[in-house]
Amino acid sequence: MLQGKKILVGVSGGIAAYKINHLVRLLVKQGAVVKCILTTASSSFVSPLSLSTVSKNEVYTEFWNRETGKWNNHVELGLWADLFIIAPLTANSLAKMVSGLSDNLFITTYLSARCPVIVAPAMDLDMYKHPTTKRNLAQLQEDGVIVMPAATGELASGLEGEGRMQEPEEITNFILNHFISKNKWKGKKVLITAGPTYEAMDPVRFIGNHSTGKMGFAIAETLLSQGAEVVLIAGPTKEMYPEHNQLKLIKVTSAEEMLGAVQQNFHEVDGGIFTAAVADYRPKDVAKQKIKKNEGEMQLTFVKNPDILKWAGENKKSNQWLCGFALETNNAINNAKEKIAKKNLDFIALNTLGDKATGFGYSTNAVIMLDKNNNSVEFELASKQVIAEKIVAYIAKNN
Ligand code: C5P
Repeated sequence: MLQGKKILVGVSGGIAAYKINHLVRLLVKQGAVVKCILTTASSSFVSPLSLSTVSKNEVYTEFWNRETGKWNNHVELGLWADLFIIAPLTANSLAKMVSGLSDNLFITTYLSARCPVIVAPAMDLDMYKHPTTKRNLAQLQEDGVIVMPAATGELASGLEGEGRMQEPEEITNFILNHFISKNKWKGKKVLITAGPTYEAMDPVRFIGNHSTGKMGFAIAETLLSQGAEVVLIAGPTKEMYPEHNQLKLIKVTSAEEMLGAVQQNFHEVDGGIFTAAVADYRPKDVAKQKIKKNEGEMQLTFVKNPDILKWAGENKKSNQWLCGFALETNNAINNAKEKIAKKNLDFIALNTLGDKATGFGYSTNAVIMLDKNNNSVEFELASKQVIAEKIVAYIAKNN
């Protein structure tokens, strides 16, 4: 499944490094060509000799090979790889990646790599939840690195909690899905709606919501990194918009503008992922001048906004697919299933507000993915980037 894929495995110095022989074996078994880079500290936890044996390749630690006197070219290594997986990622290497402190081959290679980079952090529970670590992981994600969050369980310190490196099998699966998905998206075009809509009351006020567009942007970035063309129709947000030469970005404000942009572009895409939090209603009349306050109560009349996703469902051709999002607070699964039927969808990603770290504004999410044939799969709480990878891989596999 990974036939001929060139995978660079970066190992930093945590106890979980002892599992990397197994990870490399799993990757090689799948047909990947694997090269390993170790930090000096990690060679105390896993021997370069065993890694070079399982990978069938030279292992790189320093800028030069002491035996041959040959320079280890970090730029060549960075350009060689189709994927750079860093496991385990320690707090020290994380901080260096964030700051660009390139005092070893590992970090210089990271800075030279043009391929997707995935990291699997591993550290003690208190280190993992320290604000510095959280801030650094958030920055890494901002820089486009895919973070596989640490698992919960027994830690080397004897403590129990969050901080375990994801198991080699889980990492291999994640990498497999990444490449399966990538093969499917090259040459495809996807329309994404994202962010809130603002519905004007007067020239200076609007009715809006707290959506940031982060989930839709993460999906757009994942698709772009996997070779798809993306039409991103985004409502107002303070988030950074994705940038890419395969991206057509259309900024809109209101639901009616969003509908107009969808209607203009939907016919030329293979499918659509509608993540936008569209206002269901808008003020009936938009005052020409700023509404003045007076002593009494104020009444506004609202009219229904168009259901943009429903329009796409009614107008989709047989070769187009559609994925909606649903945020439900009660009877979630049944409501989501109804929505699939009512809006003629192929998939729906359901996020319930039950978990505090999901939904609007958070960098994390957890979803249940449902399809029109009543299949479902749960993606547990993870960064929006990881959830985006999983959603995109699921759609690639199932459409
Ligand atoms: O019906 P509900 O608003 O719960 O459906 C949510 C899904 O429909 C989301 O995918 C959202 O982007 C889309 N939607 C839309 N236009 C609306 C309302 C929702 O495209 N007016």
